[in-house]
Amino acid sequence: NAASKGTYEFYMLKEIDEQPAVMRRLSQDYFDGDDVKVDPAIVDAMAQSDRIYILAAGTSYHAGLVGKNIIEEYADIPVEVGLASEFGYHFPKLSKKPFFIFLSQSGETADSRVVLKQVNERNLPSLTMTNVEGSTLSREATYTMLLEAGPEIAVASTKAYTAQIAVQAILAKAVGEKKNLEKAKNFDLKNQFALAAEGMQELVDGKEKIDELAKKYLSTTRNAFYLGRGVDYAVALEGALKLKEVSYIETEGFAAAELKHGTIALIEKGTPVITLINDPATADLTRGNIQEVESRGANVMTFVAKDFAREGDDVVLPQIDYYLSPLVTAIPAQLIAYYASKNKGLDVDKPRNLAKSVTVE
Ligand code: G6P
Repeated sequence: NAASKGTYEFYMLKEIDEQPAVMRRLSQDYFDGDDVKVDPAIVDAMAQSDRIYILAAGTSYHAGLVGKNIIEEYADIPVEVGLASEFGYHFPKLSKKPFFIFLSQSGETADSRVVLKQVNERNLPSLTMTNVEGSTLSREATYTMLLEAGPEIAVASTKAYTAQIAVQAILAKAVGEKKNLEKAKNFDLKNQFALAAEGMQELVDGKEKIDELAKKYLSTTRNAFYLGRGVDYAVALEGALKLKEVSYIETEGFAAAELKHGTIALIEKGTPVITLINDPATADLTRGNIQEVESRGANVMTFVAKDFAREGDDVVLPQIDYYLSPLVTAIPAQLIAYYASKNKGLDVDKPRNLAKSVTVE
């Protein structure tokens, strides 16, 4: 059955490996031929909105940071992403026609429920994107879209993260088409999903390479950094969270160019720095940022989109649409966290002090 570990030692690796299949399932269920298929009531409500507010916690929050880029690009609506725990007690000044999206694998996160309760008290429209049908956040929101990722058992979220990115892209395209935007109409999302699934498969098939990187650079280090710009910055935050939560290596995700404004003081000989490069606007600049840390002795690992790859890069990411690139970048980021933890003999699926779903504020 879907929730059994089979031959895997840990659920986390099983769930990482399942991601190409999740992409294919979403391609089947959210498309009609090449057209996206989304409940028209959701599309209408969102198309009328002047600002989207995405609320979430943990990994789901990081999926929201990626979704902001996709929705602003293809649906042309400004998006704010908030940590539910902060937003719930300090609502910002809302726009005239807000629309709320709650991202939650479990659909049970208490911090998100606090926000939704107030959204409902104000009679504002909301959508929950969740992996669990009938979950509390799903029942309490106006609308629901399911992630269809299948049961996620490992505490560290993997396949729900990429599914959240994919479902936000489906919604962005549907809303952009409703608004008659050329960019949305020309966005070949079905094809991009196929490329993403293929690319994910290629990356999971090459997992030994990631294991080697983890052994070489992460087996004894106390700290590490993740750098990226544009959507890679959002993925850097998630990569850092993944690595720290399962391996206990203290890891910070950083906007690559911001490092030099202070944090570069922490780079020493041997400090591992994972750098993500997918963004056409900043790819060359990020290379400069790499040089800055390398010259201070950092051990740099590069995960780079094919179009920008150079000799010596550690992982070449299959080329897909920039806005969707987190779907493929996530794979080596998840794998390196997995191996860093497993190689230390830790319980990958159940890191200390963590719960899969946090139902207290
Ligand atoms: C917990 C989990 C995280 C998860 C977060 C949000 O802290 O350990 O992995 O990202 O809750 O959970 P949700 O179910 O709302 O996505």
